[in-house]
Amino acid sequence: MSDPILVAVAWPYANAQIHVGNLTGSYLPADIFARYQRLRGRQVLMVSGSDSHGTPTTVRADAEGTSPLQVYQRYHATFLELFQKLGLTYDLYTSTHTANHFQVSQNIFLALKQNGYLYTDRQLQWYAPSQKRFLPDRYVEGTCYICGYTGARSDQCDRCGNLLDPSRLIDPRSKIDGSTPELRETEHFYIDLAKLQPQIVDFLHQHEGYFRLNVLRQSLGQIQAEGLHGRPITRDLDWGIPVPVEGWTGKCLYVWFEAVIGYLSAAIEWSQLTGEPQAWETWWQNPAARAYYFIGKDNIPFHAVIWPGQLIGAGTTFGKLMGSTKEAPLTLPYDVPANEFMNLEGQKISGSRNWAVWGLDFLTRYDPDPLRYYLTVNMPEAKDTDWDWEDFYHRNNDELVATWGNLANRVLSFAYKHWDGRVPEPGALEPEDQRILQTVEAGFESVAEQFEAVHLRAALGEAMRLASEVNKYLDQTGPWLQIKTDKAAAGRTVFTALRAIDSLKILLAPFLPFTSEQLNTYLGHEKPLFGEQYLQTEKDALAEHTVLRYNPGNAAGRWEPSHLPSGQVLQPPQPLFRKLDATIVEEERARLGLKV
Ligand code: MF3
Ligand code: ZN
Repeated sequence: MSDPILVAVAWPYANAQIHVGNLTGSYLPADIFARYQRLRGRQVLMVSGSDSHGTPTTVRADAEGTSPLQVYQRYHATFLELFQKLGLTYDLYTSTHTANHFQVSQNIFLALKQNGYLYTDRQLQWYAPSQKRFLPDRYVEGTCYICGYTGARSDQCDRCGNLLDPSRLIDPRSKIDGSTPELRETEHFYIDLAKLQPQIVDFLHQHEGYFRLNVLRQSLGQIQAEGLHGRPITRDLDWGIPVPVEGWTGKCLYVWFEAVIGYLSAAIEWSQLTGEPQAWETWWQNPAARAYYFIGKDNIPFHAVIWPGQLIGAGTTFGKLMGSTKEAPLTLPYDVPANEFMNLEGQKISGSRNWAVWGLDFLTRYDPDPLRYYLTVNMPEAKDTDWDWEDFYHRNNDELVATWGNLANRVLSFAYKHWDGRVPEPGALEPEDQRILQTVEAGFESVAEQFEAVHLRAALGEAMRLASEVNKYLDQTGPWLQIKTDKAAAGRTVFTALRAIDSLKILLAPFLPFTSEQLNTYLGHEKPLFGEQYLQTEKDALAEHTVLRYNPGNAAGRWEPSHLPSGQVLQPPQPLFRKLDATIVEEERARLGLKV
């Protein structure tokens, strides 16, 4: 197998449920892309996990009166359930709270330190004498020194939107107990991004004209305007990964510094689980490997600037610390296809205001493939998009059901009924039959071209266009009438249509894996298209944790036109999709609290 492809997927914060905006932003496009690459026969490793540390989790734990560990475990469990139900085929979905991730993160830190890319500095930080601890920025509120708003967070004002210098906040108070904090000096490690800047800029220049514009603008554009400066990568916090330096107890690695390292640590964990402890090197120490990062636009600087800096700075030293057999630098991102945001009924999605369509809740009422379909046709690849229930209803009924579902269903039912449950014998094909087959078969190039550029909306659009062509072919040939006068001609048409559908099934499988798998069985194939997902529970020195895994199955090499043979025994077909009732639009809007 050639071309190792790392599909690196954003790590969800384990402190909130996942909504459709998160799904279409990064988790779903990653799976679609990974499935396509697997069908191409490429060596895919798709990894991610729950981002469990830092203040996002401690804030929620404090608000609930529980522990950060409990918060992380609860959300992690719901993510595993959602990803399994939606068919997100992570080779490994783990978490940052594992002994392995601790060790890998600490080794990246130590490699950077050895290579001279870390320094220490002192800064002023709010300290709560009442609790004898430093307070993270978002734990301190006060009056904004720019606009006078009294509910400003010490690092950012929600009224005027400015990022604030925490030490200049007026009338500070602790969000935990209302007490007045004081400024105290604290010491932190910094990553020397100024020193890494030339190499980071080189890396970005190599991707000019290739990275999406939003990614270049937010990385190269930013650097050209302001230059890079050292950033603190430790925090005064105890929920996280200890700083691996003597005398630094009570401090942790900054959550953003270590979460991105998850892409690497998860590959290493996967290798161990697979029983080939060095397998991670195929993706991580290999110039031929291509790493794609599926993230939302708010994550761009962390993935296109800082993470490459961490990798460049750790260099070959990391491999040595890990006992790697190769002395090679770490693979830099090949593409960072960051998405914009999806809104909901014209307004920004907000979890805290419950203005969201939640993944798990949606799947209690609808099937996964219609969700995957709608989130792809509406994927915010180039600009923000909007989830609109009326649009969802129409796309489901007028496109998914009308163009594709009905096509597959009426041809299969017709064949099943009139040809004794078998693929008809076609005889010699007529020019119009050959034409439609050629049209569909050309999709293995035209759809692939869009996939290679990570233009998933366009890839789906092209596949659906080919489905419409097959509908036109059937309208013109009309096998339902043909059969009354010329059964052989009808058999030829049905054979042709079945072959076209068998090919379309592959082109659509990355988007619609559940129904494509179903269709694959109706067409009488024995081997499933993809492998299975399963949960596995592990215990390490830190805690017990459950991970989601994927067995690669036999997708490899199936990205090619159908060879469906005549005489193949079909299975009794069922409709692939449900037509929705128009009342769901009002029901769902009412559920959101909208007046209808
Ligand atoms: N948990 C963060 C977010 O969802 C970061 C995700 S990507 C990571 O925005 F790799 F940095 F974790
Ligand atoms: Zn303000």
